[in-house]
Amino acid sequence: MTDFDFVVVGSGIAGLSFALKAARHGRVAIVTKRSAAESNTAWAQGGVCCVLAEDDSFDLHVGDTLDAGAGLCNEEVVRAVVSAAPERMKELMGWGVNFDTDAATGSLSLGREGGHTRRRILHHGDTTGREIAESLLERAREVEEITFFEHHFAIDLITSGKLGYATEDRCLGLYVLDEKSGEVLTFRSDRVILATGGSGRVYQFTTNPLGATGDGVAMAWRAGATIANMEFVQFHPTCLYHSKLKNFLISEALRGEGGVLIGADGREFMHKYDERKSLAPRDIVARAIDREIKRTGSPCVYLDMTSKSREFLQERFPMIWQTCMDAGIDISRDPIPVVPAAHYQCGGVRTDINGATSLRGLYAIGEVGSTGLHGANRLASNSLLEGAVVAHNAASDILRRSPLGQSHVNGYTIPPWRAGNVTDVDELVVIYHNWDELRRLMWDYVSIVRTGKRLLRAATRLRNLQREVQEFYWNFKVTTELLELRNLVQTAALIVDSAQRRHESRGLHYTLDFPEPNPLEIKDTVLRRVL
Ligand code: SIN
Repeated sequence: MTDFDFVVVGSGIAGLSFALKAARHGRVAIVTKRSAAESNTAWAQGGVCCVLAEDDSFDLHVGDTLDAGAGLCNEEVVRAVVSAAPERMKELMGWGVNFDTDAATGSLSLGREGGHTRRRILHHGDTTGREIAESLLERAREVEEITFFEHHFAIDLITSGKLGYATEDRCLGLYVLDEKSGEVLTFRSDRVILATGGSGRVYQFTTNPLGATGDGVAMAWRAGATIANMEFVQFHPTCLYHSKLKNFLISEALRGEGGVLIGADGREFMHKYDERKSLAPRDIVARAIDREIKRTGSPCVYLDMTSKSREFLQERFPMIWQTCMDAGIDISRDPIPVVPAAHYQCGGVRTDINGATSLRGLYAIGEVGSTGLHGANRLASNSLLEGAVVAHNAASDILRRSPLGQSHVNGYTIPPWRAGNVTDVDELVVIYHNWDELRRLMWDYVSIVRTGKRLLRAATRLRNLQREVQEFYWNFKVTTELLELRNLVQTAALIVDSAQRRHESRGLHYTLDFPEPNPLEIKDTVLRRVL
């Protein structure tokens, strides 16, 4: 048994900035399944939105976010997040984050991405996420009140309901697998914060790191928390198409600097789909590329940056420049082959603006949470911003609702993890086979363009997979591979279930059965497990 005032699961921008604030009040555990340096945040290229330019305003940023969100954003939340950006960015810089500045004026340099009517993206070359993650991590490692549990996998939340108490259901901690020893530890806390990122690995093609397996959403679902809008999976239009580099993102910032999408015939095509052409919001661009690929039979389309000088490209996008060069593509001369790939989970564990979920004592911040900011389609570079703002709100809200010194945990008897009579997994091949099957079926049946028939097929196969994985879970010792698969299958089932409930096309959910939006369907898809 380990007791902490706060237990944070995940070490991206949301988890680390929450921990830095909470540590001023009590002891914080950061539980993370890989090394703390590995997070979705660290992979973010584009940057963070912040209204700073003379010709920009909060109203314009709010308008762009609502427009991208296709009728499902919570405007109050959008306004609160957008207007908190300058304060939170100042704080990030105070923690050591370096955003690029304009050489001539010395002021912060602002990039642009799809769906934005103004330049408002703070960035650090094309490795903004890594810069933020490293700076925050360096800070957090210096704080005595923060203890890191790296290579520790959060298995499941402990709730009073699951323990059989008839009192109001609340989160009391979690069971965590120490990946090195194989032991399962019990963390007790009445303040548990999920900051686990997204679930891109549900799909065969994704821009996400290996760890994006939907752990937070799956855990919260199993604990009975409300889940919202999981059908809205964002596909980034431009993932590098290359036989060896499978999930390398070509940032939307390239289009913000004048990059143009062209077909294999060298001709532009985006004007056929939207007047904003290559800078239309992501749902529109990804769908257009998907249609062009299917129409022409070409395996990819191309992003043409050849109007830009070698010097500019090398300086503004050093990582993309080098990675493409290593792959044999000189982006100042050759168009970059690109395809859409799963990128961001717009729905998640339903929360308020403070990250509070429907389960007392449980918060969800960053990509794992669904505050209502993104609606049916996230505006580019709003996510790191949301992580910072909601982490800040959560840190004060949690102390207000559950002041230190008033622990609820002591009133409950929490048993240690019961492993039962289990043995080691005998055939890992079954787990890998199920991983592959799941990711392929989600790509083929539940990606950019959906139909009722495909969703039904996916739901049927997922039920079989879930049954098999559950059998494994009960009969064998838990391992990271098995736990990730269990979470992936659960998250996939939530995506499919949500998609089947939406009888229209809106934002990122596009179905050939109902190709238009339906005004009667302007509502969130809300799921809650009956316990
Ligand atoms: C990108 O750099 O294109 C990704 C930015 C984002 O997903 O917000």
